[in-house]
Amino acid sequence: METLQGKKSFDIDINEFTLRHKNYNRLILDLGTGDGKFAFHLADNFPNHFVIGLDSCRENLHQYSRANLPNLIYIIANAQSLPRELNGLISYIHINFPWGSLLGSLLNGDTNLFCGLEKISSPQALINLNLNAGALNEQGWSLLHGVDQVEVNLRRFGWQIENPKQINIQALKKFPSTWSKRIAVGRDPRAISLSGCFNP
Ligand SMILES: C[S@@+](CC[C@H](N)C(=O)[O-])C[C@H]1O[C@@H](n2cnc3c(N)ncnc32)[C@H](O)[C@@H]1O
Repeated sequence: METLQGKKSFDIDINEFTLRHKNYNRLILDLGTGDGKFAFHLADNFPNHFVIGLDSCRENLHQYSRANLPNLIYIIANAQSLPRELNGLISYIHINFPWGSLLGSLLNGDTNLFCGLEKISSPQALINLNLNAGALNEQGWSLLHGVDQVEVNLRRFGWQIENPKQINIQALKKFPSTWSKRIAVGRDPRAISLSGCFNP
């Protein structure tokens, strides 16, 4: 699979990847990591966890992927075709403020995405999604209907989801991701989080 450090990309195989993460008890995935700030924050604050930031777009990742933390890696891949090196390993999936085809797949129940999430998850894996009104509107959904649709799809694919929670502006400002802060000061700062656990 392709990994990124600064502007350089490296292919690493399963043996090299295993060497990188084998001493950590939890692997956390930030799917659609954007510039990678949230993944960096997790790795920096939880040195016992191995954190993977994954995005299909490399251009925004140059700054945070330069960070030399032993427990952090950035992978370039599509959410609909997750690297098989991750299979069975991920204990926590974060999806923060998705847009584009990632959000589209969450909304239309894309089996490539949801079966991939199932494959990479360890037993009882946890998931947290933060969804915002602007991104959902761009795909033709209101905030409430969009969140409801994503929740239905998650449940269909074996995720047990708790009641959705509103994320207020203060919480958006405090949340350690770049898009969260943009949304907080934007025209439509409404956002909702969904969380749950894999229990097919
Ligand atoms: C609005 S940004 C949010 C970035 C970051 N999570 C944050 O909170 O700052 C959405 C990200 O999803 C990524 N994305 C969209 N479709 C994707 C896909 N199919 N596979 C992987 N990443 C995708 C985009 O490249 C973009 O970086």
